[in-house]
Amino acid sequence: MNEKDMLEMISPWISDEEIFRLNAEHYVETTQCFDRIFTDGIGSDVYESGDTHGSPRVYRDFISRVGSAPFGTDRILRQIASEYVAAHGYRNVVPHHEAPDKQTALLARDLLSHMPPGYRLYLGQSGAEAVEAGIKFTDAARYRNNQGQRTKFIAMHGAFHGRTLGALSFSSNIVHRRGYRVAINDVISIPYPAAHPYFVWTLDRSKSPHEKSSYAIRYFDFSTYTPEQYRKEHLDPLLDQIETISTLIVEDGVQGEGGMNVGRTDLLQELYGFCRQHGIFVMLDAVQSGIGRTGKMFAFEYANFSPDIVTLAKALSDGLPQSATICKKELAPERSGRHSNTNGGNPFISLVSRAVLSEIKRRNLLERVSFNGDVLRRVLKEDFADRYDVVHSARNLGYMGGIEFWNPDTRQPDPTLRDAVAKHGLENGLLLLGCGISGIRIMPPLTTSVEALVTGLNALAYCVQKARDEVARKRATLPV
Ligand SMILES: Cc1ncc(COP(=O)(O)O)c(C=O)c1O
Repeated sequence: MNEKDMLEMISPWISDEEIFRLNAEHYVETTQCFDRIFTDGIGSDVYESGDTHGSPRVYRDFISRVGSAPFGTDRILRQIASEYVAAHGYRNVVPHHEAPDKQTALLARDLLSHMPPGYRLYLGQSGAEAVEAGIKFTDAARYRNNQGQRTKFIAMHGAFHGRTLGALSFSSNIVHRRGYRVAINDVISIPYPAAHPYFVWTLDRSKSPHEKSSYAIRYFDFSTYTPEQYRKEHLDPLLDQIETISTLIVEDGVQGEGGMNVGRTDLLQELYGFCRQHGIFVMLDAVQSGIGRTGKMFAFEYANFSPDIVTLAKALSDGLPQSATICKKELAPERSGRHSNTNGGNPFISLVSRAVLSEIKRRNLLERVSFNGDVLRRVLKEDFADRYDVVHSARNLGYMGGIEFWNPDTRQPDPTLRDAVAKHGLENGLLLLGCGISGIRIMPPLTTSVEALVTGLNALAYCVQKARDEVARKRATLPV
């Protein structure tokens, strides 16, 4: 290929209009898709292509690629990555699972240094794949230990662990779940012990998952519960089948997709303690909340707890396709061939993961997120929850935050209002993403300064006001 062809391959000339057309014509629909094309960014800001709406615009990023961009758009990471690729290329010479390599060896050392001793690491490619690996590790351990009767999983209402058939088994969201077969039917759902009241999709697992009537929006409020009360109401009822339960799977510290529901530490400790007491493995899914997002490397550090399995993806490799399943040594597959994949453990991606871990430390991001997380909590309370009747509740742990909207007249979640807030965000230079039934996420890059956070929140307050007036106006003109 000559230089000109190469440049054309790297930077093809194509109009935004043509990109939208090709996208619409050829791709299946997946999740929400912006009618914008973003070309670059710096730190907590994202730039839109100049072609689509006349002039290039800058957006404050409150999404961080759904938590996969710990530094937003980062020059240092870009430089490390391009120098490595220029020198070594971007792939393994031989697959990692078949021949060790420098970068993956060092990644294991660096990542496991954040865990207590006695853990092993498995590298895959997506969050869902990390979860599936964890499920298989617990199954294999039950089989090895002659505990074949322990087949059931405990999962949370509102859980999200990925879209593959194993991971999807734990979901109770009607949109994600209805009509699909799943791999695991032995799932018991219990409510997530959040620190604030919240609405959530629930699935009655005694009924068909394909019937609309099996799903319901429910409201939970554990804010005044004692740990004993939570145990009595939601854990003790499991005692009559306790010998059949293998594993608890729960999002670590905060339920992300299900509504940015922040767990109450003492109730989570009660839940984990119950599992320990009854020989149930605890698998914490840190795909969204891990790698510093909550102000700790892992949210389970707040609960002073060491899980049996931890899953990671997203921020671990700055959004490149790499995931990790970290398990206690005794849960690791007992021999080669039991579990693997082809492209996991890519040395280039592992270098990026090492750079992510190293930059989090070098830039003191855990301290920053923890400190600014307190500012975020105050603003969410004073400027949103206390100010707007349409805000049902607002919460965060570090830079993992959410606002849940409701209709104060009907006292029900208000997804129409949430969608209007997101639309006004886009029109006013703020990138927002929904979660749960009627929530929006607040997930800026970990590098976001307190000034950038607060100006973004000011813009958000403006959008809430606009959306509230607009929705109220529309509802007032509807025929009764
Ligand atoms: C907690 C959690 N687990 C698993 C997943 C699935 O990850 P992936 O999309 O990489 O398969 C997600 C994705 O949002 C997640 O938030």
